Amino acid sequence: MSKSRFALTLIIALFSVMLGFAGVSSKKEPAPLNDLIPTQSKSFFPNTSLRSATHGQPTVAPKLEGCVTCHGQIEPMHKYGTTETLDKLNNGKDAVGLTCTACHGGNPVPRKTSDDPQAIQQIKEQAHVRAKFPAEWQRDGKFTGANPERTNTLLARESWEFIRFINPGDLRVVPKTCGGSACHDIESRNVARSMMTHGAMLWAPRSITTAAFL
Ligand code: HEC
Ligand code: HEC
Repeated sequence: MSKSRFALTLIIALFSVMLGFAGVSSKKEPAPLNDLIPTQSKSFFPNTSLRSATHGQPTVAPKLEGCVTCHGQIEPMHKYGTTETLDKLNNGKDAVGLTCTACHGGNPVPRKTSDDPQAIQQIKEQAHVRAKFPAEWQRDGKFTGANPERTNTLLARESWEFIRFINPGDLRVVPKTCGGSACHDIESRNVARSMMTHGAMLWAPRSITTAAFL
């Protein structure tokens, strides 16, 4: 074999080895986000464009949730998304494609059809998650957004769904809301152990806290 022929064969062999490696390493790339989300949280975020990646399938026209027929003026929960920045809701979704019920739960079907206060009250009751102990959530004989002043023991007795409804950021439910997908799982876990949450060390005598850092 001539020298140049040998060199050519060597180069071709090297190339094919490199290509082989490229093939192997591309197989090791992380799975698409959608596949990483456990089935449970997939159903938890039903209408999200971010998570229900369409992968070339025809896109279904977005359905507007009934919540926005009453809460239409609310600002988007996420203003900044990967591709867009929103000042107002886009089809009832925020900038990362989350709808109200993705975080709060509740029934997205009932919608406001008239301005009659009684009708609004009725629809609202159908859409909202009801408390297990509704009487205790009243103020001045009315159910309003003004919740009782002290809710600690009340919340401890309430249903998981109700807690999520009034505050998706409550640490009792946060593993299924903000931390329920690959989004804020680390933050959700860390905040539960934060000094701002458990309060340990906050009230130690000064001499002890300073000594610990000397
Ligand atoms: C028919 C109108 C109407 C619809 C539909 C509606 N809401 Fe409301 N919502 C209200 C009103 C009015 C309040 C103010 C507080 C009250 O009167 O209970 C409220 C209050 C709330 C609160 C605060 C509750 C609290 O106790 O702190 C949340 C959260 C909420 N709505 C979310 C939703 C979500 C999510 C949906 C859709 C699943 C929805 N709402 C659908 C009218 C509505
Ligand atoms: C990314 C998750 C997320 C999305 C999406 C979201 N919310 Fe919220 N919402 C929260 C959190 C967290 C709070 C804070 C609760 C608190 O501080 O008490 C909140 C607060 C609220 C409150 C005030 C509750 C109170 O007691 O004062 C209302 C009303 C509300 N959301 C309605 C909506 C509606 C309507 C939509 C859809 C347009 C929506 N939210 C979308 C997470 C979300």
